[in-house]
Amino acid sequence: MGYDKSGETRAIVITILVLTSMLITFGLAIFADRLQPDHGDASSLERKSYDNVPPSVLSRGDSDIPEGKPLFNMSRPHIGDVPYGQAIFSCSKPGQIALTFDDGPFYWTNHVLDQLDGLNIKGTFFITGNSPVLSRRIDTNPEYAALIRRMRSRGHQIASHTWSHKHLKDIGREGRYNEMVYNEMALRNVMTTPPTYMRPPYGEWRDPDSMQDLKALGYHVIMYNIDTRDYNCNTETDIEDSISLFKDALREDGNGSYIVLAHDVREWTAKKLLPAMIHTMDLRGYHAVTVGECLGDSEFNWYRDPDDVED
Ligand code: CO
Repeated sequence: MGYDKSGETRAIVITILVLTSMLITFGLAIFADRLQPDHGDASSLERKSYDNVPPSVLSRGDSDIPEGKPLFNMSRPHIGDVPYGQAIFSCSKPGQIALTFDDGPFYWTNHVLDQLDGLNIKGTFFITGNSPVLSRRIDTNPEYAALIRRMRSRGHQIASHTWSHKHLKDIGREGRYNEMVYNEMALRNVMTTPPTYMRPPYGEWRDPDSMQDLKALGYHVIMYNIDTRDYNCNTETDIEDSISLFKDALREDGNGSYIVLAHDVREWTAKKLLPAMIHTMDLRGYHAVTVGECLGDSEFNWYRDPDDVED
């Protein structure tokens, strides 16, 4: 009674269709993932998480630019002995390590700073002003502006990791200028002077056009020779891989010279990797310094005067 044969058939057909389309979507997702180009030393998980941001969030960064005078015609003299517009991978003096932190600031940055400041260790922070993944801006959110001012006041070096973490090689000259200059304006609004050091998102330093533009904009391009791969570590167990990687990469005799890539936005970097790196450095006699110091560059050259305008 009330047994509707055609209704049951329809339900079965719909179920099969839904399951099939789910399988196809899942299969395509895996396939598309495998097709992603390998950028060598670029961080794959970092790339993935940024590329998965919905377009509505990403486009926000295109229209909302930092307040105040634009800095497109700021004077950008190539002062000092450190090269501009070419990738730099290591410190110049044996025994020195520059710990560098990308993508922040974020929630875990405070914990990173507490540890560094507690031991009077100086680090370098590559700041993304308008992060699509973290959904925060440094120039409109007082909490993050305060974190950057704390870094600066404690002697850490502040550098640029672009305005919104795009692939520089894909966005043309105008896009690259916007990515660099908007971040300068945001950092100017937060801490008065914009930086002269930068790191390209995804570790992409091989594109000649990007490097030419970064040279014209007066930037030192800082890569790394130890990648902790902490962006792959989402658990306390995972981070052991990064700790091992760091220990294995660091010469035991204390005579190596390193720029180390890590991320202050990540929980296990703050909780486990950083203390382990500091411990290992101490044991092997390394001295932690900022990137500018490890390249022998005077602190005066790390930042620019935003009021110094080209004629
Ligand atoms: Co990054």
